[in-house]
Amino acid sequence: MDHSTLKGFPEGFFWGASTSAYQVEGAWDEDGKGLSVQDTKELIPGTPDFKVSSDHYHHWKEDVALFAEMGLKMYRFSIAWTRIIPDGDGEVNRAGIAFYRNLLEELRKYHIEPLVTMYHFDLPDALQKKGGWSNRSTIDAFVRFANVLFEEFGDLVTYWLTINEENMMILHGKAIGTTLQEGEEAWRDLYQQNHHMLLAQARVMKLCHEKCPQAKIGPAPNISEVYAETCNPKDVLASQTFSAIRNWLYLDVAVYGRYNAIASGYLREKGYYPQVEEGDWETLKGANPDFIAFNYYNTSTVAACREGESNVSARVGDQQVSVGEEGLYRGASNPHLYRTEFGWEVDPIGFRNTLDMVASRYGLPIIITENGLGARDTVEEDGSIHDPYRIDYLRKHLEQAELAIADGVDLIGYCPWSAIDLISTHQGFGKRYGFIYVNREDDDLKDLKRLKKDSFYWYQNVIRTNGKEL
Ligand code: BG6
Repeated sequence: MDHSTLKGFPEGFFWGASTSAYQVEGAWDEDGKGLSVQDTKELIPGTPDFKVSSDHYHHWKEDVALFAEMGLKMYRFSIAWTRIIPDGDGEVNRAGIAFYRNLLEELRKYHIEPLVTMYHFDLPDALQKKGGWSNRSTIDAFVRFANVLFEEFGDLVTYWLTINEENMMILHGKAIGTTLQEGEEAWRDLYQQNHHMLLAQARVMKLCHEKCPQAKIGPAPNISEVYAETCNPKDVLASQTFSAIRNWLYLDVAVYGRYNAIASGYLREKGYYPQVEEGDWETLKGANPDFIAFNYYNTSTVAACREGESNVSARVGDQQVSVGEEGLYRGASNPHLYRTEFGWEVDPIGFRNTLDMVASRYGLPIIITENGLGARDTVEEDGSIHDPYRIDYLRKHLEQAELAIADGVDLIGYCPWSAIDLISTHQGFGKRYGFIYVNREDDDLKDLKRLKKDSFYWYQNVIRTNGKEL
């Protein structure tokens, strides 16, 4: 819809930025931290480990000062479960609590609202060795971990996120470290893991409301519009099926406490429907999230399968992952979009479509917890970093966010990926997302110096003008 006037971004809008613990902190085994699946997983050849990352663990004060200088109103980061409870369900590590209390107090000092993700891909390895999310007892371990977080940080945190991109952990289990297996058995197991994570999330949301009544909590999946390649009803059917499996399976449970009908049909047809125990539905219905957070990078385009062909990625354009399902959908390219140097499609209007869709389905406030461009940056001789491609990407998405607000979306915050350079999940340090450059390479830690990119100054002005100057 066209709008004769735009409302602009609301007063008090949370202009933020995001990171995750294992991708930014480093100090992988310091001060009592236990190992997570990210520390023990087999690395993709040519990519660095997460032992040092951006060394934020030793630079946090300097980093927060830079976030404050940029003007951030919100900082979304994750707490490493293994710093708080090194083996996942045993003793609490006081040094881990101290680290995050210091960080939170520093953020509060600068009036930056923390948005805390409890779990971002880094399950304690000790739990993984006991079966990880396939083992129902991991639900109790997560609830206990959350309880520690509410008790230790409840006075400093208002906004909580449960699990980052649960849908990507299921759909791309091998890349992210949720599974080592392949084939039917792996899928059956992954959907059982998914059911356990959904239960864990629901119990933690309920606990949050009981223990911290002033707090707000939401899920944080990766959501994107799924286009049909053509208006052929068969292609439209394929896009709806894929969207149910990719998007609504996760959000419908988080908000309504029930499995999406089409996704259920798929799970039953494939023999992947999880084992559900007595009381599970009641647990799922008790979640009641206060808002929806989601990560958005791009859209997907699919078509009906033809002649047994099938090739689609849940994050279309990411060359590392490609899945498709015979009889359901196949990937298609979208001639209206361009791609980044890492092959990811860019679709700002798709961002508005996705925001509109989520707002219409769930009627809850929305915070964007990731959105951004991974690119190789060059440091000039004078230390400046010119990243117009990143500014262009973010600007185009913010323009669409503003239109979505005019459409009626209750968007309350925008936290692009990432506040500072960090290690990509599977494509190394060279794929940079940050407003702040960290001077290291994949195989050379250099001096880890922080440098402000052009996008830093651009975003600073966006925040200063509350989005009036994009
Ligand atoms: C999201 C994750 O999927 O995308 C982040 O939550 C990740 O952890 C981001 O870094 C960008 O993806 P990648 O693979 O380029 O790191």
